Amino acid sequence: MLQNKIQQYTEEINRLAPSSSVEVEEFRLKYLVAKGLVKSLFEEFKTVSSEEKKTLGKVLNEFKQLAESKYAEWQTVFSDNSGVGLQREEGDLTLPGEGVELGSRHPISLVRKEVVAIFRKLGFVVSEGPEIEDDWHNFSALNFPPEHPARDMQDTFFVEKREGNDMALRTHTSSVQVRMMEMGKPPFRAVMPGRVYRNEAISARAHCFFHQIEGLYVDENVSFADLKQTLFYFVQELYGEGTKVRFRPSYFPFTEPSAEMDISCSICKGKGCNLCKQSGWVEILGCGMVDPNVLENCGIDSEKYSGFAFGMGIERITNLKYEIKDLRLFSENDVRFLSQFETELV
Ligand code: PHE
Repeated sequence: MLQNKIQQYTEEINRLAPSSSVEVEEFRLKYLVAKGLVKSLFEEFKTVSSEEKKTLGKVLNEFKQLAESKYAEWQTVFSDNSGVGLQREEGDLTLPGEGVELGSRHPISLVRKEVVAIFRKLGFVVSEGPEIEDDWHNFSALNFPPEHPARDMQDTFFVEKREGNDMALRTHTSSVQVRMMEMGKPPFRAVMPGRVYRNEAISARAHCFFHQIEGLYVDENVSFADLKQTLFYFVQELYGEGTKVRFRPSYFPFTEPSAEMDISCSICKGKGCNLCKQSGWVEILGCGMVDPNVLENCGIDSEKYSGFAFGMGIERITNLKYEIKDLRLFSENDVRFLSQFETELV
């Protein structure tokens, strides 16, 4: 009798308590597939008298709903999201665990650390300052004349314009030198690593932000010879013994005299290659003796004290060390690029 069967299967389903997704699947195969029990009961239903159909139709539909809702309920409980077909409750506990993949240090961080460590050995401390700066610290105190092109909208990202005091994203970390000198008393011996911003079109060779490390040494009797020897030592440490340096006269508003320093090409060792444009030399930094005006602007007696300053782009130093040809790689977060650098366990 159909009614009895329905009754019997209903009880069976109500008793069921599957304990794995395999059992849930067995249930589906038994009841819900095209040749399953529910379908066959409907087939049988067709054969009963029209008298019986009235009551049985309702009972049969309720049975079908029960089977479907139980299946849906169990399926959510035992669904396996791992995509590998292994049920959680059946995982093989003797399998080796999944290793935790370690990230790697960003090359900019690696090189910044290395540069800072070299200067630390010479007694330099690290000094930091804000990335949003006022006109005074970024330009005026550093002896930039009011009409200097670096203040131009093309180079500087202005954040806010207030009368006499434009706020901008700092264009160099020299602003930290000013803050340091204003706040303290000589001697100063510090390096200032940090991010700087310039309004430039993004390409392989230029970016709207990059990183610098600047250095400042102010004391009595500091000379250009001290500057040269300090930078010479730095280059030997970073690029290896025997790296040559040369200084070319240059101009910065905040140093006098000013120079740019080249090193013998770290790639071809001075023989000439694409990187150094066959010259054997590559420029790595700007430097000079702190202009007495800057010292005075920061409240330091320029008759008594003198100092030197230098500044370099970390990206540039990194490019030379690792032969990276496209600046954009540094900020794209491509794991294929980043994972080539060392992992540091701290
Ligand atoms: N501030 C300069 C720049 O951003 C670099 C520099 C620093 C040059 C210190 C000389 C002395 O280009």
